[in-house]
Amino acid sequence: MSAVVVASNRGPLQFTVGANGEVSSSRGSGGLVSALAPALESIPCTWISAAMTKGDRAVAAAATGLPLPRSGTAEPRVLHLDEKIYDNYYHDISNRTLWFLQHRLLDAGAVTFDRGFQDRWNSYRAVNRAFAEACDEEADAGAEAHVEDYHLGLAPALLRERRPDLRIMHHVCCPWTDPECFGLLPGAVAGELLHGMLGADVVGFLSARWVENFLRCCRSVGFAVDAALGTVRAADGREVRVRAFPLGVDERDLRRLLSRGRPERFAADQAQRLIVRVDRMEPTKNIVRGLDGFAAFLGSHPGYEGKVTHLVVTNLSRGGMPEYQRYRAEVERCVQEVNRRFGRPGWTPVRLLVLDDHPRALRALAAADVVVVNPVWDGMNLVAKEAACVNDRDAVLILSRNAGAADPARGPKLRA
Ligand code: F6P
Repeated sequence: MSAVVVASNRGPLQFTVGANGEVSSSRGSGGLVSALAPALESIPCTWISAAMTKGDRAVAAAATGLPLPRSGTAEPRVLHLDEKIYDNYYHDISNRTLWFLQHRLLDAGAVTFDRGFQDRWNSYRAVNRAFAEACDEEADAGAEAHVEDYHLGLAPALLRERRPDLRIMHHVCCPWTDPECFGLLPGAVAGELLHGMLGADVVGFLSARWVENFLRCCRSVGFAVDAALGTVRAADGREVRVRAFPLGVDERDLRRLLSRGRPERFAADQAQRLIVRVDRMEPTKNIVRGLDGFAAFLGSHPGYEGKVTHLVVTNLSRGGMPEYQRYRAEVERCVQEVNRRFGRPGWTPVRLLVLDDHPRALRALAAADVVVVNPVWDGMNLVAKEAACVNDRDAVLILSRNAGAADPARGPKLRA
């Protein structure tokens, strides 16, 4: 039992079980873990997550017997969920539907909300219920429960039903879309999702823009909203606070990571300028358009041929989804195309590095002359902030207005 319980789909550790049953672990990937793990370093808590890998599932199935590695002071608890139900919840509802909806990339002309969708929504409900039950089991009386992200939108209300004594926080780590786009969801699903989130005492987003959109969505389905106070009246009459909690990065920690590993020359020739991007291989990150932009630049500035390298550093996730497999193939095709069109002996214009190596990605950002961060939409892009901390070359940052990392209302005005 703990005074602080955290629940997130992806946990702070990813497990591997060796041939003799010994358990080893590596750090869970992704922005949520990177942001939360250091914040919880010295706070004793239980961190509940879903089994995502074979090793996680083995650990979860044998949960009671095994001494598990810990992440700082967090005691991990891994939930073993039925694989089909998990697949529906994670791939279909969380990522294919909610993730693309919130990033405005849901294909309105193609999406169908048929009986199959309803079955998958039932899986989303079931996994949220499993998380709520686990939080209930782990939380001390009056404990704090942090229920993370769009995977667990229903869990706050399900948890409140079981444990009205808890203080419940729900954080969303992706953007939140506007009511018109949110309205693509069937009314009952949209209402259930908002009702679920409003089970929390506080609903947090990464930026004020997403708070504003969320309040507008709540109003659009009939909740009473006080935009000035940033509150929504939940069905049980509680005033739920909706707030922005932006994320920062830890410069000291980044510099420590940066010093790990051997120095590396990322371009063939030291005199070459380096344009760097670091992203998950993810359609919302807009990698293909970045490559098109680089090709257009080379086409219109032939003087730069041989003098510049575009380094694309990416790590893989959600590889089980055809959308992500297709996107990866498209990125690779574009890289080949630019290299075929402009490359020549001794100069490869684009270098694609697919890796899961944070220190190496930081070294690339440190060596950059230009850093490209051009997501279609992003909750709060941290690469832009990491680059600002580790780069010593006075690099130029090309930042999308919708990256969430800067307030576009305060940025430079668009020119006609
Ligand atoms: O909210 C975004 C997020 O859940 C982050 O934790 C992370 O950056 C990314 O998505 C990783 O996604 P996944 O866990 O599906 O690989």
